[in-house]
Amino acid sequence: MSVLDDFRLDGRASIVTGASRGLGKAMSEALAEAGSHIVLAARSEEALNTIADGIQTLGVRALAVPTHVEKEEELDRLVEQTVGEFGRIDVLVNNAGTTARHPAIDFPIEEWDRVLAVNLRSVFLLCQKVARVMMRQGGGKIINVASLLSEVGVGLIPPYAASKGGIRQLTKSLAVEWAEHNICVNAIGPGYFRTALTEGLYQDRERYEQIIDRLAIKRWGRPEDLKGAVVYLASKASDYVTGQVLYVDGGYLAG
Ligand SMILES: NC(=O)c1ccc[n+]([C@@H]2O[C@H](COP(=O)([O-])OP(=O)(O)OC[C@H]3O[C@@H](n4cnc5c(N)ncnc54)[C@H](OP(=O)(O)O)[C@@H]3O)[C@@H](O)[C@H]2O)c1
Repeated sequence: MSVLDDFRLDGRASIVTGASRGLGKAMSEALAEAGSHIVLAARSEEALNTIADGIQTLGVRALAVPTHVEKEEELDRLVEQTVGEFGRIDVLVNNAGTTARHPAIDFPIEEWDRVLAVNLRSVFLLCQKVARVMMRQGGGKIINVASLLSEVGVGLIPPYAASKGGIRQLTKSLAVEWAEHNICVNAIGPGYFRTALTEGLYQDRERYEQIIDRLAIKRWGRPEDLKGAVVYLASKASDYVTGQVLYVDGGYLAG
């Protein structure tokens, strides 16, 4: 036995939300490369099917389950289909996320509600539903996706910041409550990664330069930069780690 065996995920069943592109796609591929079967959830069915086809070439099974995370009945269906297909859920990655950008003083409350529903309410609901399965089977790993906005403030995105601050505290609370069930609850806090979510920011040269200035490692993140962190937190290698936010941020918070 080598320590590297502790990082393997052979035969596990993992759900990844927001798996249709960006960070969720990369994390799904990472878990599959480590040997896990993957259940891919997001709204874009065609993208999920294409990613599932790619993942199956790695020799694991991949199931695409179109899911709108704001709809509780669709979260129930996601859990039912996963258990139906694999009989268990070993890993849950709560990655689906969205944002909206307006001055706080005029922020439309409907947009506030939508961002909180996707980024925080759905995460709690899915944690509950999946933890019931994990408790029955004797344990599991939950990985939420936080953000630098779990720690620092940035203007114009108050519900996003509130939701990601909430993710940090939700992660810690669930970690404390569910440790006795052998469920580890951690989060990954990505720094600045170029995806559909951040393309506007990436194209804004002034903000782009400000971000590069503060980064210790002078480049934006690439989705592949999250692969090691997600496999670590999903695997036996992190069995004594719970309630943590692992920032993968090029040293942004260090400065
Ligand atoms: N990019 C960054 O720099 C960065 C930094 C820190 C944290 N994050 C976090 O990382 C996560 C992934 O972000 P990303 O950058 O990869 O963004 P992205 O490319 O926009 O991907 C977002 C994913 O979430 C899914 N999604 C959005 N709303 C949904 C809904 N109502 N129901 C189901 N799925 C939904 C999208 O799929 P569909 O549209 O197909 O539904 C997509 O797969 C988010 O939680 C984000 O807050 C990103």
